[in-house]
Amino acid sequence: MKFTLDTSLATGLDTSCLVIGAFEDAPLQGSAKLVDQACAGLLQQLIKSGDVSTHWKDTTLLHGLNGVNAERILVLGCGEIEKFNTVRYDRICSSAGAFLRDHATTSAHICLNEIEVSQTTDYWRLRQAAVSLKSANYRYTTTKAPKDDDNPPLISASFNAGADMQAALEEASGIAKGYLRSKELGNLPPNICNPAYLAEIAQGFAGSYKNVSAEILDEDQMAELGMTALLAVGRGSKNGSKLIILNYQGKDEETRPIVIVGKGITFDSGGLSLKPGLNMEQMKFDMGGAASVLGTFEACANMQLPINLICIVAAAENMPDGNAYRPGDVLTSMSGKTIEVLNTDAEGRLVLCDALTYSQKFNPAALIDVATLTGAAVIALGHHASIIMSKHDDLAEELMNAGNTAVDRGWRLPIWDDYQPQLKSVFADMKNVGGMAAGSITAGCFLSRFTEGQRWAHIDCAGSTWIWGGDKGSTGRPVGLLTQYLINQA
Ligand code: BES
Ligand code: MN
Ligand code: ZN
Repeated sequence: MKFTLDTSLATGLDTSCLVIGAFEDAPLQGSAKLVDQACAGLLQQLIKSGDVSTHWKDTTLLHGLNGVNAERILVLGCGEIEKFNTVRYDRICSSAGAFLRDHATTSAHICLNEIEVSQTTDYWRLRQAAVSLKSANYRYTTTKAPKDDDNPPLISASFNAGADMQAALEEASGIAKGYLRSKELGNLPPNICNPAYLAEIAQGFAGSYKNVSAEILDEDQMAELGMTALLAVGRGSKNGSKLIILNYQGKDEETRPIVIVGKGITFDSGGLSLKPGLNMEQMKFDMGGAASVLGTFEACANMQLPINLICIVAAAENMPDGNAYRPGDVLTSMSGKTIEVLNTDAEGRLVLCDALTYSQKFNPAALIDVATLTGAAVIALGHHASIIMSKHDDLAEELMNAGNTAVDRGWRLPIWDDYQPQLKSVFADMKNVGGMAAGSITAGCFLSRFTEGQRWAHIDCAGSTWIWGGDKGSTGRPVGLLTQYLINQA
């Protein structure tokens, strides 16, 4: 999808679809008002009669309106003006993106960025509209036969803004690229998207972006480094585990990098502590953290942000097998600390602990891991927010703020030492599960033992990265939060 800028009057534009917004309880504004004037008040009449809905997120498509050149007009309901805010704004932009995907629309002119949203700038509204539109316009097709009734995606989107706003569109382009990468990787089936596939994608970045290099460690190289915890998780799988290291240098070598680490379990069967069959197919989502850090890395390389960034993915498949690790095993992690395995389904923390130990060789300015770590994250916050944990208030706040700006929100949970005793083991330095209470926090506490002295934050995106059930699929989150954090650091 190509983004362009066009300040011509909305009514005169030759586009296949003009996208405008209308509040429930306020007069039509900007381009919507122009459209209404051009068609002699018909739009206002249709709103009054209820034929055009102004309820928040509702969509109505009008055809061949007199006085308007556009073939169609898509009206987005904005709801009550008092309730309108950044979140509501973001959702109507997504609504538009999804609507255009599901109708045969290949070009559109978007005027939603004209709508006033308190505490926002023109720049933000344009950027957010472009990101949300493109991200919501995505459709998964890779492993499906093309169908006659599949509408082509939007090819070009122009926005009602002047040439001085080009930078906002470029930023949007970069962020949207990251979202789409994350969605596509999350949606790909586990027989395609395995650890080697993730490694190939990373190597592709090194080929296609400036200032990027990639290094892939195989199982032998990881064994040499003592990454026994990570390797244990992948031992039951024929697909070898990989440690993927991507380096983006957008600043001088002396600048300490930000290091983002992703959980890349390309399929989580639970291992010998096998998961129930229902919904198991969705356990391909367990590389959502990896997909997000790879997407974020791509966005950053695409925008050539002036920062140094390292992206590390711990990629493995958790399978039951004669060679699989077992409950009862005691593993010596790369850090030297020993771990008693009580449940092979608590595998994310095992791959991450070694990846986090490895990360420290880069002397990170900030170390952030992103993982679909616990089912308890879904219990705690549902699907609306990623969990943020950090002992560093400033880092937690930076991540929270970034999430708010990108409308990809996080919410903080404590990671107090009070929870640490839940990880006490009879046979090792710790066990890999902390019991029923505070499951997400004890998982974070486990990781904290491998990040001592680091400016570290943990993001549990188990709730935010995937939509369950009928419309199942990746949301690409938290690419928005992470890229905004990096933009703010630049
Ligand atoms: N990837 C899962 C977490 C998960 C499961 C998130 C289902 C969302 C839905 C993780 O590897 C896992 O299985 N965690 C266990 C930990 C438990 C055994 C301590 C969980 O949350 O049940
Ligand atoms: Mn698991
Ligand atoms: Zn898992």
